[in-house]
Amino acid sequence: MISDNSDIQKKIIDGRLIAKNIESSISEKVIKLKKNGIVPSIAVILVGDNPASEVYVRNKDIAAKRCGILSKKDIYPASLTEKELLNKIDELNNDPLIHGILVQLPLPPHIDEKKIMEAINPSKDVDGFHPLNVGKIFTENAAFYPCTPYGILKMLDFYDISVKGKNCVVIGQSNIVGKPLSIMLMNRHATVSSLNIFTKDVKSIASKADVLISATGKAHLIDEEYIKDGAVVIDVGISNINGKLCGDVNFEKVVNKVSKITPVPGGVGPLTVAVLMENTVKSASMKS
Ligand code: GUN
Repeated sequence: MISDNSDIQKKIIDGRLIAKNIESSISEKVIKLKKNGIVPSIAVILVGDNPASEVYVRNKDIAAKRCGILSKKDIYPASLTEKELLNKIDELNNDPLIHGILVQLPLPPHIDEKKIMEAINPSKDVDGFHPLNVGKIFTENAAFYPCTPYGILKMLDFYDISVKGKNCVVIGQSNIVGKPLSIMLMNRHATVSSLNIFTKDVKSIASKADVLISATGKAHLIDEEYIKDGAVVIDVGISNINGKLCGDVNFEKVVNKVSKITPVPGGVGPLTVAVLMENTVKSASMKS
């Protein structure tokens, strides 16, 4: 049976709405901080001209301005050396007026991402990628949690979806999403399967998931055969196919089987940005 449009609407996780709620509470905190003479500020560094990264950086800059956060966008050519980038980070680390530093990934191949992440002062690491903050995910006391995984947890919370005792399958093992998210779900007592490109029979594992999260960047990888009836599906992927954005999940094919699903665009993306703003304001508050 094909669901009618109102059935489908009820299943959609509205990332834009949740992000708006988060941003309005951030804006109030920003007003209070400004009254105390603190202007929350973030520096976003982009090296090179990756078109997707340019869009992400622009969205972060616009969101910061919406929340009243001062945003400094530093854009450098792909020819920037590792040493030059390390010097820029050093300047920002030592600038008391900057509360958050974000270096957009991926970086050009001649720059060692690990070295760059380690160079950011952990107290300004609003991306949550410094090894100290990554390690503290295990002990649940990180200063900042990575934005996309944390945004996904906020989505689940918004709809009162508990993962305790549930089968959660995370497809994709990146440092940005899959790995930290798996640990953060384990912290909530989920039974987590972390899948990667070498995993055998992804379909059979995925089809047992109560909560399926896909973060591969492979457009329309997931169809109805990967989905258990009533599953919650979170689509982190974002691909551009002939000028149209689409996710890892073939929305039309799976929507009849799921209980909740994120759209692309308008699902996870806005949450990632909102959590970045939250982390920036948290950093500024720690200075007050
Ligand atoms: N590239 C893709 N996602 C992210 C992110 O959340 N932070 C940074 N710095 N780079 C990214």
